[in-house]
Amino acid sequence: YSGSTKSSPTRVQWSTRMAFILAAVGSAVGLGNIWKFPYITGEHGGGAFVLVYLGCILIIGIPVMMAEIALGRRGRHNPAQGIATLVREAGAHPFWKIIGVMALLCGFMILMFYTVVAGWAFAYVPKAASGSFVGENGDTIGSMFGGMLADPIALTIWMTVVLGLTMGIVLRGLHGGLEKAINLLMPGLLILLLILVGYAMTSGHFMEGVSFLFKADFSKMTGTGFLVALGHAFFTLSLASGAIMTYGSYLPENVSIGKTTMIIAIMDTVVALAAGLAIFPLVFANGLEPGAGPGLIFVTLPIAFGQMPFGSTFGTLFFLLLAVAALTSAISMLEPTISWLTEKFKMTRFKACMLAGSLLWLGGLGVVASLNIGSEWTLFGKTFFDMLDYLTSSWLMPLGGLLMAIFSGWILKKTVMQDELGLSSAIMHQLWLFTMRYITPLAIIIVFLNVLGIVNF
Ligand code: PFF
Ligand code: NA
Repeated sequence: YSGSTKSSPTRVQWSTRMAFILAAVGSAVGLGNIWKFPYITGEHGGGAFVLVYLGCILIIGIPVMMAEIALGRRGRHNPAQGIATLVREAGAHPFWKIIGVMALLCGFMILMFYTVVAGWAFAYVPKAASGSFVGENGDTIGSMFGGMLADPIALTIWMTVVLGLTMGIVLRGLHGGLEKAINLLMPGLLILLLILVGYAMTSGHFMEGVSFLFKADFSKMTGTGFLVALGHAFFTLSLASGAIMTYGSYLPENVSIGKTTMIIAIMDTVVALAAGLAIFPLVFANGLEPGAGPGLIFVTLPIAFGQMPFGSTFGTLFFLLLAVAALTSAISMLEPTISWLTEKFKMTRFKACMLAGSLLWLGGLGVVASLNIGSEWTLFGKTFFDMLDYLTSSWLMPLGGLLMAIFSGWILKKTVMQDELGLSSAIMHQLWLFTMRYITPLAIIIVFLNVLGIVNF
């Protein structure tokens, strides 16, 4: 490979700006919005956590996403080689190549548990369709979820299904049906979430849910809460894990990165807040615990589906759409590794998928085991599943974001990002640059120092 930044004629590109937006929204909107956002909000006390998370999206997530798409497009390769090219061109210290390597590693580690949780959504499709939730109360539905986690065989089968589908789609390349699928998925998911919000309004505890989500009580916030909110801003926007950078590398030259980023971030935030509005009123209406953990949506929503009219139909559709939303995120996590294996090692797409898939399957087995037979195997009190989530969301992603901000704000020649971002006004570019240089790095460093106990606030 030539090492030039000119796109090679054989490298694929998105057919239109819309195709890129759909793929990037497909990557962003997933389990992070509907499964993870509500349960971590519940664990960290609600409103104040949500406010910090929204702040992180605005002052860190959006500018970093712009940078990451631009770095991807400029590098025109997989994350590792794309960043390496930019480092070489800028004459920067080879240390900076770590940005690309960390991103690959991070996406791979997330995918190991993402396939398992996506498997839960798949498992709930037949449960909802067969009417298993009808008339059941919180206790029985809670033990249904517990029973699923306790069954390593079922979890492994569903994880394998998810991984197989992800590999199948990635194998066929990015154009095969992905755009159409997301075109149907996003409106469908939003409509179903709105139906659920509507149902939550009739629960009699809607305002309790709203104030839990939006009434900020900072006395409930801990240093860990800040770190989790920061990490989640990266996770939910698919940042610093190679996905957005790789999708950016397929982006045609003439597409505005600023506008596209805004659309992606807004869609992602709307879905997360809608999920929160649907779930918390039901939590309070059914006397459940907001901090119940990763099972939160798999317990609250089935209770609602068991009670509302057409609940089995809505429930089936909901878990199906959640499963598809998870798939479109999973493929965006696999693509960076596949593009690295094919570009760097000249593997065929098939071989690359088989190799990555095998490792991911083994990792998935570890995650499955950590939910049942291996729940005692812990390191620093964390199971393998917890450890993957903790290392990626709390450390690798914010660290990757910090490095990208410094790299694009300080290390690259100013004109590089100016060209790539092509913001319509000089003031907008100055604002972006100022954020990248000062605000984003400082905010991330302060959260790190705080959680390490070095500064306190
Ligand atoms: N953004 C996805 C979600 O919210 O579910 C998760 C994700 C996708 C994280 C892709 C990282 C990634 F590279
Ligand atoms: Na998301």
